[in-house]
Amino acid sequence: MSVLKEADQQLIRLLADGQFRSGSELGEALGISRAAIWKRVQRLEEFGLALESVKGKGYRLAQPVDLIDPLSLQATLGDRAQLHYQWVTDSTNADALAIEGPVSGPLVFVTECQTAGRGRRGRQWQSPFAANLYFSIRFPVSGGFAALGGLSLAVGVAVAQALQELDPPLPVTLKWPNDLQINGAKVGGVLIELAGEMDGQVDVVIGVGVNGRMTGHQARDIDQAWTDLASELANMPPRTTLAACVLSRLLEMLPHFSQHGFVAFQNDFDRYDAVRGKSVQVQSGDQMILGRAVGVLADGALRVETPDGVREVYGGEVSLRVR
Ligand code: BTN
Repeated sequence: MSVLKEADQQLIRLLADGQFRSGSELGEALGISRAAIWKRVQRLEEFGLALESVKGKGYRLAQPVDLIDPLSLQATLGDRAQLHYQWVTDSTNADALAIEGPVSGPLVFVTECQTAGRGRRGRQWQSPFAANLYFSIRFPVSGGFAALGGLSLAVGVAVAQALQELDPPLPVTLKWPNDLQINGAKVGGVLIELAGEMDGQVDVVIGVGVNGRMTGHQARDIDQAWTDLASELANMPPRTTLAACVLSRLLEMLPHFSQHGFVAFQNDFDRYDAVRGKSVQVQSGDQMILGRAVGVLADGALRVETPDGVREVYGGEVSLRVR
């Protein structure tokens, strides 16, 4: 996929409201010919942006696009984190991992579109242009890898709390270890990756994707029940507002997590726990555990009651199904 050049970005900004703009108006604004506009418009389709062209009216986007405003987002984050914003990238987690570390404070990577968005267990994360929230936070954690148990659960709690601040508050639940759900349909996910030494300072990369407004076509490769915020809310806030709200909660949570670990969030997690009391099937490596989920431990492990006693399962490459 090609990169979005400055002129492409300008074109998207001009068409973002979904109104028609004539070829000559666009050409004049960009300082290029009408024929060159036609070529650029065609290229935008590579990024999943559907365009219409009507004789005598010009061009318009089939759907208005709601771009992130990086200046306003950085203003909300203030000195709590430094923002890196890109129109398109392969993966914000990859970007956060790629920089030379360790870092001294939180760095936030936000994008409009990922061309190789990563999900858990080697899956792809659908990341169409300006549809959802895609971001990663790189954050230093002292105490090594051992201090990280339960981080994805605490992240889930912070994102769920942010989504409950919306109007109406959304009935978000958490499916251990990392899914955000609304009425059993996935609305977001968390992917934690690590950069650093086993025993020294660890930088953690927390990747979060939240479905904002996705068309069925954009979501055609998602192989599980899903929803997006636009389907759940009467008034969908701008993506910049959503990003600010979710990131603020996370930046507030992280220092607490560093100091106290998951235990400080265990009660909150229990309130959002979607699987507690349910019959589950957990695949962990080549082991299959069948039983009843009975909550999580202070280190984030899931407790599963089986005929042979209670088993403790840790996150990572596990998959959990409610039976
Ligand atoms: C999951 O499988 O549920 C985890 C999905 C995590 C997706 C986010 S989007 C931003 C960040 N960058 C990535 O490549 N993945 C995470």
